[in-house]
Amino acid sequence: MMSADPLSPQPPIALHRPDISPADLAALRPLLDSGMLVQGPTVAAFETAIARVAGRGHAVAVSNGTSALELTLAALGVEVGAEVLVPALTWPSPAHAVCLRGAMPRFVEVHPTRWNSEAADFARARTRETRAAIIIPQFGNPVDVGAIQAALPGVTLLIDGACVLGSSLHNAPATASPTRPERDIPVTLSFHPRKVLTTGEGGMILTDDAAFAQTVRTLRNHGLGADGTFLRPGGNSRLTELGAALGLQQLPRLEGVLAQRRAQRAYYAEHLPAGTLQEAIEGALPNAQSVGMVLRDSRARDTLLTRARAEGVGIGHLSYCLPLLPSLAAFGNPADVPEAARIASCGLTLPCHTGLTPQDQDRVIALVNQALAA
Ligand SMILES: Cc1ncc(COP(=O)(O)O)c(C=O)c1O
Repeated sequence: MMSADPLSPQPPIALHRPDISPADLAALRPLLDSGMLVQGPTVAAFETAIARVAGRGHAVAVSNGTSALELTLAALGVEVGAEVLVPALTWPSPAHAVCLRGAMPRFVEVHPTRWNSEAADFARARTRETRAAIIIPQFGNPVDVGAIQAALPGVTLLIDGACVLGSSLHNAPATASPTRPERDIPVTLSFHPRKVLTTGEGGMILTDDAAFAQTVRTLRNHGLGADGTFLRPGGNSRLTELGAALGLQQLPRLEGVLAQRRAQRAYYAEHLPAGTLQEAIEGALPNAQSVGMVLRDSRARDTLLTRARAEGVGIGHLSYCLPLLPSLAAFGNPADVPEAARIASCGLTLPCHTGLTPQDQDRVIALVNQALAA
């Protein structure tokens, strides 16, 4: 499929573009006309539909993936001063959500090629003070939650599944309950525009525990309980009807979107140097939410990013090593998580979306391979 002259001057290539059709936009008109823009039937229908796709009993829609984390930590009773294990390589939201509760993140190293914190990493990081742990299937790459559960007896778990909708593990949704369902492990989702399905801003809390679902419903809406009484102080983390309508419109296309993204990821894997893309555990089918790549050193990575920017090719940074961020430096030392530091400094993310053409992909591949050969 490689084109004859992939480096000739061409239009910009976006890192990501949401998959929104004219029919999706048309679905917003009747909602706007109805005047009912929040807490209506569309949010409820979106919750039901996502619970089904995710393999969970209950889904509670919220305003974004970060508020989903904040509400879940609150509903789990994570208290001031509690130590919470957090993967060291990720977007800062989970660690910031822990800090905003007055709790203490403790950073966990990640696997060198799968980029997830796995059971052995969590077991090594655990101390006698550990009360909870946040599991992250990074960039939608499934992680063995059952193994982590076995490695952390007595520790409250939650899954930050911001990127994981549509991924599967042993033919079950990666968002479903792990093999040991005796204790519910809630999952949070994000519907930010970089995700495989977007509501603009948006998020969801998934659980199999009806009482837990009711608690987060109360927390997302000013502490208002099902009986109309304000039961506890709560903020506003509601999703709009417009966002829910956009999400509902995209859901029937999700499998097709995933197939396209996976094919693009496979094409990158075929044409880029072996061992540079994220690996998956046996039985996992990731959703290709992000196609990350780790280069041999940070200078090569930075040179490529500069070149890509100059040519209008949307290659971006991959992720962050959390103890290197000023907001989180007090909670850990990057020297304790060398793999997370290496991946953050040498990593980049490649364009992957339904608007990407085969010619675009060839251009990205040619640019990367040329930079690596220099
Ligand atoms: C692992 C992880 N957690 C949380 C979030 C935050 O989601 P949101 O942007 O919807 O608040 C993100 C965002 O990409 C993420 O990657």
